[in-house]
Amino acid sequence: MLRMDDSIHINFQLLEAHELPEDERSLLRKALEISESAYVPYSKFQVGCALQMADGEIIRGNNQENAAFPSGLCAERNALFYAGAHNKIPGLRKMAIRANSLEKVIDQPVTPCGACRQVMLEYERIVGQDIVVLMQGKEGKVLKMKGIAKCLLPFGFDIAF
Ligand code: THU
Repeated sequence: MLRMDDSIHINFQLLEAHELPEDERSLLRKALEISESAYVPYSKFQVGCALQMADGEIIRGNNQENAAFPSGLCAERNALFYAGAHNKIPGLRKMAIRANSLEKVIDQPVTPCGACRQVMLEYERIVGQDIVVLMQGKEGKVLKMKGIAKCLLPFGFDIAF
């Protein structure tokens, strides 16, 4: 419910990887592994996304580009749409997103684009609980957030607003 004057407080943690529990470190490693086979002849920017499901399954995706530029797709949506296509969204619990450039080492977390956030938001509503999102470059600190609506996309589009 919106009030006339209000504000939103966004919680996040910027952590060293070793401060995370083992399942999250493992998810981050899998996201980096899959980023290495991204198809990025145009941007040279590789992104990998690994989804941790409640039953232990890990679903991976990376960015795929195309000479007809809008035809490519981000790593996050490739992973999420695969999960959606296989009716697995209710089991989604955590997401790890890793990015690196073929031209220079990315040592800071990269956050998902607006279109991916909107997809994450809608799937979080289906899940019915906050999704944990871990973001990291090829090296460096990990940005950790809990809740797409709370942290990554407050005021996201909702057809049933
Ligand atoms: N990209 C992703 O895969 N995820 C994001 O959240 C942002 C951007 C990709 C799209 C494109 O292939 C490359 O990174 C450069 O924008």
